[in-house]
Amino acid sequence: MLNQDELKRNVAQAAVEYALSCLQPDSVLGVGTGSTVDFFIDAIAPHRDRFRAAVSSSERSTARLRRLGITVLDLNEVEEMPLYVDGADEVDPGMSMIKGGGGALTREKIVASVAREFVCIVDESKVVDVLGKFPLPVEVIPMARNVVARKLRELGGEPRLREGFVTDNGCEILDVAGLRVTRPAEMEALINNIPGVVCCGLFAISGANLALVSTQQGVRRMSPGSAA
Ligand code: A5P
Repeated sequence: MLNQDELKRNVAQAAVEYALSCLQPDSVLGVGTGSTVDFFIDAIAPHRDRFRAAVSSSERSTARLRRLGITVLDLNEVEEMPLYVDGADEVDPGMSMIKGGGGALTREKIVASVAREFVCIVDESKVVDVLGKFPLPVEVIPMARNVVARKLRELGGEPRLREGFVTDNGCEILDVAGLRVTRPAEMEALINNIPGVVCCGLFAISGANLALVSTQQGVRRMSPGSAA
């Protein structure tokens, strides 16, 4: 029986193989954040001569990439990216995701928006029928914390401040429990429109193009419309 780290390592390895099939020597690779991505960074580092550089979605990933000899560019220097690889906290059959358990959701959404393809790497515990069991992270401007929390309560959620946590953008996170997200793109737009919200951890308006899902039997592929 594979433990969760072994499942993560396997899906990271599958993502490296996928990435190497897409990347050219002049390509810039988008790299997400989290423990699964850490395995991905470690596994792609020996192949760093197969692509030009990376753009990262967090200070944490940037430090790891640089430590392993991978050049990290500022997103402002990059116009296109074939691929963005990142984990998720939940993914549904429509390839909408909840992200931001590590607090990097805003930069993740920004970097992902530049990439032609988003490949989500998860173990099978993250695949759900309906998003919302994992509390939805919402990054907020600190002065708007309470007003945003009130609006999120009106939407049926139970927001809780992530105590002592400051994002890479100097903001705070409200983790919203109790949501059952049956219409993820609508909910994402609704939350994004609350004044004071920097970014909502729903990735549905633009979800993943492909999920690599690590299971006890191996890594399987999931794409929009395919059975989970
Ligand atoms: C980081 O902010 C998140 O979006 C991560 O992608 C997500 O929390 C998954 O992280 P793990 O791979 O550590 O479970």
